[in-house]
Order: sequence, then C-alpha cells, then structure tokens
Amino acid sequence: MKIGIIGAGNVGATLAKKLVASGHKVKLANSKGPETIRDLARDVGAVAVSKEEAVRNVEVIVLSIPFRNYSDLAELFHDVPDDVVVIDTSNYYPFRDGAIAKVDGGMPESVWVSEQIGRPLVKAWNAALALTLAEKGRRQGENERIALPVAGDDPKTKGIAMTLVEATGFAAVDSGALSESWRQQPGTPAYCTELSEAELKEALLFADRSRAAENRDSLIKEFMAAGGGLTNDEIVSRNRAGTAVMRH
Ligand SMILES: NC(=O)c1ccc[n+]([C@@H]2O[C@H](COP(=O)([O-])OP(=O)(O)OC[C@H]3O[C@@H](n4cnc5c(N)ncnc54)[C@H](OP(=O)(O)O)[C@@H]3O)[C@@H](O)[C@H]2O)c1
Repeated sequence: MKIGIIGAGNVGATLAKKLVASGHKVKLANSKGPETIRDLARDVGAVAVSKEEAVRNVEVIVLSIPFRNYSDLAELFHDVPDDVVVIDTSNYYPFRDGAIAKVDGGMPESVWVSEQIGRPLVKAWNAALALTLAEKGRRQGENERIALPVAGDDPKTKGIAMTLVEATGFAAVDSGALSESWRQQPGTPAYCTELSEAELKEALLFADRSRAAENRDSLIKEFMAAGGGLTNDEIVSRNRAGTAVMRH
C-alpha cells in the first residue's frame, strides 16, 4: 500500500522501517522539513517529504506526533479523500503534553485527535513501547507473538489497520469502537504490557476506567524518577504490576 507517516521519531521511523520491509511504499514527514530526515528516510527505505506531501496520493496515513501537537494538523486533511485510512498512534501524558480538559474529562484520546483533524481514525500501535515495536515483532505463525489492540468504528478501515499491525509483526486484536479506546490508553492493563492475544483480550475486557489516569500518572512518575535507567523489560513489568487486572 502507499502509506504516509507524519512523525519521524521513535515510533514513526520504526513503523516506516517495518512497513517498508513488508513491501509497502512509505513517505515520511516531520515538523522541521524533509531535508532534516533525508538520511533517516533513506536508511529505512522511505522517502522524506513535507507533511502536505505525506497525505497526498496515499491509501493510509499514520499519525505519530506528540499529543499536544495534533491541532497543528487541522488544515492538512481538507483534500484527503474519505476512503484514505488514518491511523493514530498517540498517547496523552498531561505532564508532557499539558492538560487537555476534554481528555481529562474522559474523552478517549483518539476521539479527541479525531476531532482535531476533523475525520474518523483508527487507534493502533499506541500500546507498545517503541523498543517493543522495533525489536519484538514476530512473523505470523511464530510462537509467543505479542498482541496489539486496534480500535475504530468502520470495520473495513479497521481491517486494513489490523493487516498493517500484523505486517509489523504483532497479532492484531479488535479492541472495539473508538469510544472504547480508553481500554488501551496509558494506565490500563493493555498498555505497554506485551501480552499474548488471549491475555490482551482479557486485559481489554477487565480494564478499569476509573483507575487509568491515576495509574498512568503514578507509573510515569516512577519512570521519570528512574531517570531513564529502566530497561524495556523493567518498564513492561512495572506497567503490568501497576495496572493488574481486577475482575468484577
Ligand atoms: N515512544 C514510545 O515508546 C511510544 C510508543 C507508542 C506510542 N507513542 C506515541 O506516538 C507518538 C510519537 O511518539 P514518539 O516517541 O515517536 O515521538 P518523538 O520521538 O518525539 O517524535 C515525534 C515526531 O513527531 C514530529 N512532529 C512533532 N510535531 C509535529 C507536527 N506538528 N507536524 C509534523 N510532525 C511533527 C517530530 O518532528 P520534529 O522532530 O521535526 O519536530 C518527530 O519526528 C506520541 O503521541 C507518543 O505518545 C510513543
């Protein structure tokens, strides 16, 4: 497929590399301009472009920028045809992004992003650490694949996003409508916990909305206090411990 990725950081560049490796044509954009990511794009087999070019003549657009910046993209989608699939990888951390009242009031993050850009979207790849995305993908059929949730309202669009998640090496699990995507946000048991398909389904089912924001804030405080000294596995295990599933 022809894919435009906006955001060339930890997640955007990793997805570009993996999607190119699985046969897709990828354009990659950032905020500073294509000349600043030419080498990076070349190294992963993508083409560096402006964000305007990233949304032109593509079938899928992946958005992977800091949450607070989504309103910058509001004008970008005017001429993008309705059948182009938009996938959002974002997560909201108020300490980093600044407080956003609607999301603090309970609007799922990606519903808010959808409002910012004025069109429907699918939430995927948000619930894995960048290192997990980069290093822990496995081919279909291999044992112990990590599963990732994919939320969205239109079955066809979500199906395309799920196929792409699979192409990056993860078992895609349908996590329901976008309004249910709080189940895969920071502070929930599905978020960055590297679960199998069966474990992820259970985590999504038993997620507790009332605990998620508090879990998110206390876990990130722990990670900040560690000053970047935690390994990927240590972060995953603290996420598991801090969000353990409670059955009602
Ligand atoms: N890091 C993780 O482990 C992880 C895992 C899953 C999901 N996520 C989520 O995925 C998103 C991206 O995270 P990341 O860690 O990849 O971030 P990052 O490394 O900080 O990279 C952010 C990228 O977004 C670009 N960008 C920022 N504002 C932009 C704008 N207005 N227009 C176009 N490009 C813009 C930046 O370009 P410039 O450098 O040119 O400004 C940069 O290439 C975040 O919402 C994050 O919460 C992160």
